[in-house]
Amino acid sequence: MADIVDDIKSRLSISDLVGQYVQLKKNGRNFKGLCPFHGEKTPSFIVSPEKQIFHCFGCSKGGDVFTFIQEIEGISFPEAIQVLADKVGLKVEDLSKFQKKEGKSEKDEYYKAHELAAEFFEKELHKSKDGKKVLDYLKKRGLNEETIEEFRLGYAPDSFEELYTMLLKKGISKNVLLRSGLAAQRNIGEDKIYDKFRGRLMFPIFDYLGKVCGFGGRALKADQEPKYLNSSENPIYSKGKVLYGFYHSKKFIKEEDKAIVVEGYFDVLLPYQNGVKNIVASSGTAFTPDQARLIKRLTENVVTAFDSDDAGFEATKRTYFILAGEGVNMKTVTGLSAKDPADYVLENREGFRNLINEAKNFVSFFIEKLVANVDTTQIDGRNKVIAEILPVYKEMPAITKDFYIRELAAKLKVQEQFVYDEIENFKLPTSHPAREASTAVAVGNGKFEVRELLLGLFLEYPSTYKEIADLISEADFESDWQKAIYNDLTDQYNSARNDFERWDNDSKVLAQEREKLNVLSLYVQEQYRLFSEDALTVEVGKLIDKMKKDRVARRLKQIENGIKEAEDEADKEKLIRLLTEQQTLLSK
Ligand code: CTP
Ligand code: MN
Repeated sequence: MADIVDDIKSRLSISDLVGQYVQLKKNGRNFKGLCPFHGEKTPSFIVSPEKQIFHCFGCSKGGDVFTFIQEIEGISFPEAIQVLADKVGLKVEDLSKFQKKEGKSEKDEYYKAHELAAEFFEKELHKSKDGKKVLDYLKKRGLNEETIEEFRLGYAPDSFEELYTMLLKKGISKNVLLRSGLAAQRNIGEDKIYDKFRGRLMFPIFDYLGKVCGFGGRALKADQEPKYLNSSENPIYSKGKVLYGFYHSKKFIKEEDKAIVVEGYFDVLLPYQNGVKNIVASSGTAFTPDQARLIKRLTENVVTAFDSDDAGFEATKRTYFILAGEGVNMKTVTGLSAKDPADYVLENREGFRNLINEAKNFVSFFIEKLVANVDTTQIDGRNKVIAEILPVYKEMPAITKDFYIRELAAKLKVQEQFVYDEIENFKLPTSHPAREASTAVAVGNGKFEVRELLLGLFLEYPSTYKEIADLISEADFESDWQKAIYNDLTDQYNSARNDFERWDNDSKVLAQEREKLNVLSLYVQEQYRLFSEDALTVEVGKLIDKMKKDRVARRLKQIENGIKEAEDEADKEKLIRLLTEQQTLLSK
């Protein structure tokens, strides 16, 4: 189980993972690109498939797949484990052991409040008299007991104080209740608070790890406003960053390599209950880029099934732009005769799956819809279609664009060239000169000192060590870790001698300094990538020269200090010895 980390690493290529966020170019044995963690114009961000690490020589961020996903998604280590396990299709048995044991964080109190509230609402639904009526309502809407329990639906009683009194008793602070939107103040500054969710059907919203982080509360009476009351943004809940149903559906999204995106809570639950389990809702917000990225961790294929009215189509179009911007393909369900998926499934339990399988590419669907609504034999009609569709074409890769341009030209009965020209004209004002990323790696100078570079060269190109083995000694190195590595290399070399070929990277010392050495190796790989063997030998010679000069300079400095001491102590013998050594060194 502790091996989940290794398991994930062995199944996940770091260049594939990073490649989902950063455009990478092959560069010798490594990949490089523009660092996603700081602004830069020349790439100094390197990914090494061999070492399974990344490192930016500009901002010094680096690490493995876990560090990368933590940094780029802003998530904790346990979350990173869960995210990557899902990506490679592994099950995590017990995440809690990766959670930090020490110290309760601010978030913990919010999680506790939400978990207690969810339990309270569940109990109310199943045990109270009013709750039973809500259960009947849920059954009427087509939900069965199993789904109600799996998604932990609940009922907030029609009371101003039951929830908050219970939570205060359990040690939740007023501040947490107010910020979560579970309670509100009558007047700012007034002490008294009251429950915000009253007489509502409660949908708990789960975060990536399955913890309740928010609620959506549906009105149950005709005059109750708003129809849906949602949790406030707080340290554990941001509505644009979660997807309703994602915790339950992620496994199925991965399996089917496809995510169905719908609008509402019921639109998730009814299809889920009837076998379409790879389904999520943006619920309570227009679909966001964060939600697109959440899906993209698992699949690049989305099928939308929004309400089949004009508002639904507008939402579909917006969602297309967001998904296309993240490089996710999107199809759209057509032929939802009922208003939304929930209603459709209620009437036709099996049919929804077929609708999904028959979903149309959004762009084709859009073209058809546009063409159906105007007279394309008229110039005006054609122009209208073109004006509407051009923004959709803007971001497309050339190959896809070509496909849809043919389709559009055929539909409009115009020459393809005409559509191309229109697109070019449309693009002109916003287009900017393509910037050809420089092929040079901007590995800043002065990142490593001579001795480190030398060790790096030995490690990467073992033959360079052979050449100079007799020219240097431990004393040439300064710090303890450098000496330790030099000694280890020397021992390895001496014990192999004649048939020495490469280093044992698992030796105790090398393994101990692995992180530091990996970065050094990467730097050396990039810096000396185009060097011939001869050029490398010359470089090593220069570095040794510089190292020796450094060593002499260091010794001279020590001697200077020693001479002062000897003078102060009137130690004649020491003074003579030091002056002689100084003469010898200076005359070299
Ligand atoms: N929504 C919201 N706030 C509102 C209205 C809607 O947050 N005032 C969100 C909810 O997540 C809701 C979704 O938008 O599920 C879709 O809204 P709507 O179609 O009005 O509700 P349904 O989910 O279809 O609810 P029902 O089927 O019970 O009418
Ligand atoms: Mn609806």
